[in-house]
Amino acid sequence: MTDDPFADAGIDTLAVRAGQVRTHEGEHGEPIFTTSSYVFNSAEEAAARFTGEQPGNVYSRYTNPTVRMFQDRIAALEGGEAAVATSSGMAAILSTCMALLKAGDHVICSRSVFGTTTALFTRYMQKFGVETTFVNPTDYSEWEAAFKDNTQLLFLETPSNPLCDVVDIPRLADMAHSRDCLLVVDNCFCTPALQKPLELGADIVVHSATKYLDGQGRCVGGVVVGPAEPLNDVLIFLRTAGPTMSPFNAWVFLKGLETLRLRMDAHSANALQIAEWLDAQDAIERVFYAGLPAHPGHDLAVKQQRGFGGVLSFRVKGDKAAAWRFIDATQIMSLTANLGDAKTTIVHPGTTTHGRLSDEDKAQAGITDNLIRVAVGLEDPKDLIADLQRGIDAL
Ligand SMILES: Cc1ncc(COP(=O)(O)O)c(C=O)c1O
Repeated sequence: MTDDPFADAGIDTLAVRAGQVRTHEGEHGEPIFTTSSYVFNSAEEAAARFTGEQPGNVYSRYTNPTVRMFQDRIAALEGGEAAVATSSGMAAILSTCMALLKAGDHVICSRSVFGTTTALFTRYMQKFGVETTFVNPTDYSEWEAAFKDNTQLLFLETPSNPLCDVVDIPRLADMAHSRDCLLVVDNCFCTPALQKPLELGADIVVHSATKYLDGQGRCVGGVVVGPAEPLNDVLIFLRTAGPTMSPFNAWVFLKGLETLRLRMDAHSANALQIAEWLDAQDAIERVFYAGLPAHPGHDLAVKQQRGFGGVLSFRVKGDKAAAWRFIDATQIMSLTANLGDAKTTIVHPGTTTHGRLSDEDKAQAGITDNLIRVAVGLEDPKDLIADLQRGIDAL
């Protein structure tokens, strides 16, 4: 029996309790520390805080008690030593790259990642001398063949956006580690409620907290989770460059985490019901959801995930105009690019989230003109199915 009551605590306990530090006021809920800087008791103490000899707050660009509570809670949930919260999911990915990479390094990245992640590697990391090779995430021979002497980092999302490719995390972790490389996993779609990449061998987890960690579409934020050492480099980048999470947003994410597992189970149950219904419709060419036994990633998802998540996509029989007619006919779902919200969202990836990809990259990533993505929310599935029927009727 250890003194730490959370040492063996379950995910639901950690989601509600981990990271909270109560002040002398005895507040029950987590307070929002709206302060940009902190006061020292003496010049000597100020100097010691600035050099890091004495732990404690200096300035909210890099530490804030509310943000720290969120960091400690998500670190506990992901099973990581440390976490650094950022102003957005993209800032989490950028901060990870800035901390871990230098000019002359090489990255291998899954082709099926969020479009802006692709743009970060191709437009900006390349400009500063980091080269990236994109590979089919489920073709492991492509990953193998892409290694170079200067490869430092492998980056992937699983399940991927929008086609729900499931990528074998332990297999890629072994591949990365045998060549002294780090594996970074964007765990946005599953969250630690459904998948724990660090336990599966990954080195770093990144999140767009904007999605399921919030869960109600209120705030933009991100977080990097992993071992203390590279995370300290991420924190130093934040201190230097400033893509910091605000204390208010950290508080919203803390509240979001409290219901994370309950929500993820409900999103997964609703999405499965809808995927099965879509799969049975003549007007639908193909459904992409790892919860369907016919999905190529189904068996792997059963092995490495606790549930299948809330995002699915499908191709209608028809062209872009048909996909747009389908989307425009829905009345309950929100036509918006965000996901991970209690409100179901519907979007045409080819002209929105992945619109910046070249036609060739879209074709390679399977983003066809007739593809639609739905991020299933927490409404009654029968009402969502009625809404999708409106879409089918408009084809
Ligand atoms: C899988 C994934 N990673 C990262 C991001 C970027 O996150 P943010 O919008 O919070 O910058 C997104 C955004 O949609 C995403 O879907």
